[in-house]
Amino acid sequence: IKNIAVFTSGGDAPGMNAAIRAVVRTGLYYNLNVFGIGRGYDGMVHDDIFAMDAKSVANIIQRGGTILKTARSEEFRTVEGRRRAFENLQKKGIDGLVAIGGDGTFTGASKFIEEYNIPIIGLPGTIDNDLAGTDFTIGYDTAINTVIEAVDKIRDTAESHDRVFVVEVMGRDSGLIALRSGISVGAECVLIPEIKVDYEAMMDRLDRTRKNKASRVIIVAEGDDAGAFAVAERIKERFPHYDLRVSILGHIQRGGSPSCMDRVLASRLGVAAVEALMEGRRGEMAGLIHSKVEFTPFEKAIKHIGAVNDNLLRMVDILSS
Ligand code: F6P
Repeated sequence: IKNIAVFTSGGDAPGMNAAIRAVVRTGLYYNLNVFGIGRGYDGMVHDDIFAMDAKSVANIIQRGGTILKTARSEEFRTVEGRRRAFENLQKKGIDGLVAIGGDGTFTGASKFIEEYNIPIIGLPGTIDNDLAGTDFTIGYDTAINTVIEAVDKIRDTAESHDRVFVVEVMGRDSGLIALRSGISVGAECVLIPEIKVDYEAMMDRLDRTRKNKASRVIIVAEGDDAGAFAVAERIKERFPHYDLRVSILGHIQRGGSPSCMDRVLASRLGVAAVEALMEGRRGEMAGLIHSKVEFTPFEKAIKHIGAVNDNLLRMVDILSS
């Protein structure tokens, strides 16, 4: 391996810049030429590929977003798009890639390896934490801390007005943001897409917990069947006297300066990715399991959907009662 390139793809996540920095600096440390690709696979297709040096990643470890930009590329999904992408990489002599992203990124990477046999190592960059092969994804810790900061504030006003709040958090196919942040804010109920909602039990709980707290907070994952407004409607039907509000936290969960956990995770995995390419590995995601770097084939890493620790959900029940 002589020339490597790094790119970010899919939804951005805090800590992606720390990962880019780690990849670039590690590559340079081992005397490789390092390139950046703008806008993920789209930049590969359109030849947005440029050399990077140590200075180009200076002062970015603390910044949210991704300096390389990101996109969800339609063209790369086509045979022709991938052919153009490969030719552009060949022109620069790039013989190894580090792909930072989530399941869509790794699905694209698998296809690319299958067709062109190019070495690619993935880094888990998504706020959703919905990848197998790592305890946590880069961006998840920052995102759940953003959620708890916001919901703590909502709790202040909810408690002052004796209100019930339905708060919607991100997680298109995954309830892991909802689950962990729900536990951290002492939510009365957490609704996630992986587990069918028992509305009767939810109503009972809302009613029962009134004796402890005037305010009640229900955290709903975006991917849940109903969505926050529909959940609020049901509650209103059952308890018309509740003073009810809905709050959708939205994309603030994707931004902001990465937490220490995310910076260190991104840095460790960035170093590991470059070293893995040098060892001849490909088609795998670097992750951290029990504090140890482990590699998981892309096909396995993306099969996380549905894997939820229902012990955590049980805890919500116990601790809010
Ligand atoms: O995958 C990350 C994520 O933030 C999901 O939690 C969310 O459902 C989705 O991306 C939102 O995507 P967009 O940026 O296209 O609105």
